[in-house]
Formats: sequence, structure tokens, C-alpha cells
Amino acid sequence: MRKPIIAIDGPAGAGKSTVARIVAERLGYIYIDTGAMYRAVALAVLRSGISISEHAKITALAKALDLRFEKVDNEQRLFSDGEDVTEAIRTPEATRLSSPVSAIRGVRNRLVELQRKMGECGGIVMEGRDIGTVVFPNAEIKVFLTASAEERARRRTEELRQKGIEADMSRIAADIAERDLRDSSRVHAPLKQAPDAVLIETDNMTAEQVADAIIELHNARAIEGCSTQ
Ligand code: DC
Repeated sequence: MRKPIIAIDGPAGAGKSTVARIVAERLGYIYIDTGAMYRAVALAVLRSGISISEHAKITALAKALDLRFEKVDNEQRLFSDGEDVTEAIRTPEATRLSSPVSAIRGVRNRLVELQRKMGECGGIVMEGRDIGTVVFPNAEIKVFLTASAEERARRRTEELRQKGIEADMSRIAADIAERDLRDSSRVHAPLKQAPDAVLIETDNMTAEQVADAIIELHNARAIEGCSTQ
């Protein structure tokens, strides 16, 4: 029997990546950061010099891109056409372009297809904006993580600083607000909570506490009869 799929959605800086990583580690599931995939397409667009208005060209580029997650020294890394782009996709330029790139229907179709393939055997924790609504609407466990705008900006700034990327919190707050607005108001697969997703407001919770809550949901579903094998 197939293991469950855990879908985690929410806005930028809600703590999805940290929490999803902990949950996957503790359950022995695979972790997939779908935002990294949109970022990799954005990076390829930046490098190609294609204008953001050229949707057909960007879609063709996304279709041709070979995107793979691989574990290196127990850390998940993203390879784009064989190049390790794990750090390159986190620059402010790639971050900013990832939102308009993710609004292009052809890009979404391509990445959703890849994401469904990655999750078809279950035993996966996938995080993004449309996992519970579009990618896996039948996921056994759906969670929508959120936090106040201030807390999300603080977390993103801290995350970048820990990676050695200089970050100004007010600039990050403005970038997050702009991306949230764009991600929630776009036509194709906008960021929204699935009706059957459990909302977790994480302002006053540690990542471990949020992970505990998700694992509890997972185990409760297992008791209800879903297979966790
Ligand atoms: O989670 P993130 O900040 O790395 O995501 C980068 C961009 O990709 C963000 O603007 C939203 C978009 N995205 C999306 O549209 N759908 C997803 N499933 C994941 C990310």
C-alpha cells in the first residue's frame, strides 16, 4: 500500500521548508521543496536573457530543463541540467523573478507534472503554494502554515543571514508583501488554503512544535485507516 502524502502550503516565510524537512526526517519520508523548482526556472530565465513577457519561450525553457533533487552529504540539493543550483536560486534576483515565472501557466503545467511524478509512490512531504489544492488534491494530510507578516520577514532575513547572504529586513518585508500579493492574486493556481487543510498559525511556535502537530495529524490519519507503511 502507498504511504501518505503530506501537503504543506502557505506564504513566503511561514516556516514551510524548515518544518517540512523536520517532518520528512522524522517519518523517513522524501522532502520536496517545490518553490526551489520555480526558482530554478527563474534562474535559467535570468541567465538566458529572455524577457519575463515571453511566456512561450520561458515555457519551452522550463520543459527542456532537467530538474532533480539529490541527497549530498545528507542534505537535499537541487540540480538543474546537471549543475548544483541550491545556492544560486536563493539570490534576491532569482527570488524576485520566481513569482512572475510561477504565474506562467506553461511553467506550472510542466512543474506540476514533475511534482506528481515525484510523489506518485507517496511517503513524501511536499511544500509550496498549490500542493493541497492542485498538485495533490487527494493528499491524506494537508496543512496550511501561516504567520504574521513581521514574523515571516524576520524569519526570511535570519535564514538568508545564516546562509551568508546580506539581508535588509525592511527590503525583505516589502519583497514578501509583493510576492504574497502576486502569488495569491494570479489566475493559475493562486496561493489559497484548501478547504480541507488544517490551518496552523506559527507565530508563537517553534519549528519542532509545528512538526509535532503535523506528525500528530499524520498518525491520527494512520489510526483512522490510512496506510503509513
Ligand atoms: O517558497 P519559495 O519562496 O521558494 O517560492 C518561490 C516562488 O515560487 C514564490 O513566489 C511562489 C512560487 N511557488 C508557486 O507558485 N507554487 C509552488 N508550489 C511553490 C512556489
